[in-house]
Amino acid sequence: MSTPVPVCLADYEALAQGVLGVPEAAYLFGGAADEITLRANRTAFDEMALVPRVLRDLRGGNTAVTLFGDRYSVPILVAPLAYQKLFHPAGEIATAQAAAAMETGFVLSTLASTSIEAAAGAGEGAPQWFQLYLQPERAQTLHLLRRAEAAGYRAIVVTVDAPINGLRNREMRTGFRLPDGIRAVNLGPTSGPMMPMHGDPIFDRLLASAPRTADIAWLRQNTKLPILIKGILHADDAEDALALGVDGVIVSNHGGRTLDTAIPGVLTLEAVARKVAGRVPVLLDGGIRRGTDIVKALALGASAVLVGRPVAAALAVGGAQSAAHALRLLAEECAAAMALCGLRTPDMITRAAVITATARPLP
Ligand SMILES: Cc1cc2nc3c(=O)[nH]c(=O)nc-3n(C[C@H](O)[C@H](O)[C@H](O)COP(=O)(O)O)c2cc1C
Repeated sequence: MSTPVPVCLADYEALAQGVLGVPEAAYLFGGAADEITLRANRTAFDEMALVPRVLRDLRGGNTAVTLFGDRYSVPILVAPLAYQKLFHPAGEIATAQAAAAMETGFVLSTLASTSIEAAAGAGEGAPQWFQLYLQPERAQTLHLLRRAEAAGYRAIVVTVDAPINGLRNREMRTGFRLPDGIRAVNLGPTSGPMMPMHGDPIFDRLLASAPRTADIAWLRQNTKLPILIKGILHADDAEDALALGVDGVIVSNHGGRTLDTAIPGVLTLEAVARKVAGRVPVLLDGGIRRGTDIVKALALGASAVLVGRPVAAALAVGGAQSAAHALRLLAEECAAAMALCGLRTPDMITRAAVITATARPLP
């Protein structure tokens, strides 16, 4: 029997379930608690309708966008995903190669299982971004930042929505743990949080090194690279981030992996984008599986989207080649959706392209 050829990202996700071990699949595909947010990230897109337009001259159209001076052939970036060697021995090297080949963006996680320098090398001069988790000691954070700058990363993505681990029950039931030999190689062996001994276990101990306003202000003073804040779901938080001098915001609920029942990013995107009012780019992730999702996100104010689990799923199925193929499928779907909506370029995508099914109060 021949292996079915994947024709969309869902096919890769289904195939990966058969390739990965049960704990690894639970780690990749799971979300927090009852996975209500994980599912809602998808249904939010499905409940929105695109508005096709006809008879327009679309010759010369393309899907390319420019972010911080760099060109991307489609408004897609590979989201930062920890420990990619769990999914394929080539790990982040393969994903970086795939992104470079498809001219999409690529964001390397602080918790990568590949060194900052090796992942940069695999990107073949393509623009890559580094996702930064603030470390317990500022000297450790600065060390990561300097390595990312030296390796040529083009922007710093500071993730602020996961100060404590989400309770991912699906993963916990499988007893998932990192296998020997796979670890966050860019962090020193002693860089676990230094927890104070007293106080409330969550508010005083686990959150002792959670990112705060002053940390972002400090970071701003310490790098000239564009800084994006990842994990924004409220327009006022976006405004606060802008006041600190950041260069972009990523609307995200961490793929439904932290706070279950949190609002899907795409439902708050419009409010955030309205508040930001074009001052900096707004990006979105969570549940992007189709080119139509990308058009919807851009219609609601995003400049680009990030894609997480499906890229790792394709990586598991067939390494760099499959990851590139998955990105190609998404890029082709994006072009087709734009064309059928009569949109020649991403900057022609306006609010009129999408109808949201339910009117909700915007936060
Ligand atoms: C297995 C896995 C690992 C992740 N690791 C990180 C990480 O290290 N840093 C981070 O900022 N986000 C991390 N995320 C969140 C993603 O960057 C992204 O927000 C999310 O996956 C987008 O949703 P999607 O998977 O539905 O596309 C991770 C997500 C998954 C599924």
